[in-house]
Amino acid sequence: MSRPTYVVIDLAALRANVARVRACAPQQRVIAVIKANAYGHGAVHVAQAIESNVDMFAVCCLEEALVLREAGIQLPILLLEGFFHADELPVIAEQNLHIAVHSSQQVELLLKHAQTTPLNVWLKIDTGMHRLGFLPQFITAVWKVLAAAPHLIQPLRIMSHLACADERNNPYTQQQVREFNEIQRYLGKVETSLANSAGVLAWQEAHGDWVRPGIMLYGVSPFPETVAKDEGLQPVMHLHSALISVKQYRRGDSIGYGATWRCPQSMPVGVIPAGYADGYPRHAPSGTPILVNGRRVPLVGRVSMDMIMVDLRSQPNAKPGDPVTLWGRNLPIEEIATHSNTIGYELLTKVTARVRRVINN
Ligand SMILES: Cc1ncc(COP(=O)(O)O)c(C=O)c1O
Repeated sequence: MSRPTYVVIDLAALRANVARVRACAPQQRVIAVIKANAYGHGAVHVAQAIESNVDMFAVCCLEEALVLREAGIQLPILLLEGFFHADELPVIAEQNLHIAVHSSQQVELLLKHAQTTPLNVWLKIDTGMHRLGFLPQFITAVWKVLAAAPHLIQPLRIMSHLACADERNNPYTQQQVREFNEIQRYLGKVETSLANSAGVLAWQEAHGDWVRPGIMLYGVSPFPETVAKDEGLQPVMHLHSALISVKQYRRGDSIGYGATWRCPQSMPVGVIPAGYADGYPRHAPSGTPILVNGRRVPLVGRVSMDMIMVDLRSQPNAKPGDPVTLWGRNLPIEEIATHSNTIGYELLTKVTARVRRVINN
């Protein structure tokens, strides 16, 4: 028997979440965002599970796309940061990858290094995120240059990214949508993509032609005030472990590094072999919920590299070997993220390589 900390990746839940995207955006084509190893779920398994249910994949960069191609994934793949050097362009063309073009440096390189196979370009417009993309006042000039480039597939498509779509009442999203629509009207008949998960779920006016959901595919709510179930989503990643020690302490005994938590009475404390080196957040405070035998108990003391401790007063009969869930079904990752002052995205992507992965089809 090895260390009992593992994640279960539930591919049926993943497919149900894709169906939820389709229900929200029935007219749109779907670009499934599977960058960062599919938000920590394993890009190849995820891509294989939904390749026939989506229209395109998106990853961060060429290296991430090549992992998918080597595994036999054939769907077009969009590189969200485009390319960094001209020597990537022949591979991008040959592998049927699409590129986001967001900077004048990229435009210069594209014009200088024509490819024999034409390239699929998504012109990235900065409608208010103020991260990557051309500001609206420069679009006309860039469009003119790129529209005349014979080695690019015409017409180019356009995309932008929403900064505040996870705040349902924030008018900033409407402002971004207005800006984007105005540019589209000016450019004529071009295909568009704007909506991330929050856009898919809450901003129908941002759906455009292609939606780009990431986090909702993995069954995590993009909104701070809700959890997956509220959004009709099912968690895909479940982080499990088991108790490896239960001991009785006296009133006043301290637990863990820094002696930050003291037993208020004589009580049992359990040890779980999962810590920040597994991806459990170090900043999860005492009181963060953990399931032992399917019932909630509070974390006590500091999270250490390999272990955490729990207050077992509500389960005096708990013993080594009893099952533990750190997040997943019945314990929303959103809740753990809130306790730890972070977001589900970060927790998902930080589960480390030493945690065994079990893939459930
Ligand atoms: C450009 C772009 N599009 C889409 C997404 C997907 O966003 P989400 O995971 O919030 O759905 C991301 C993720 O960060 C992104 O950077």
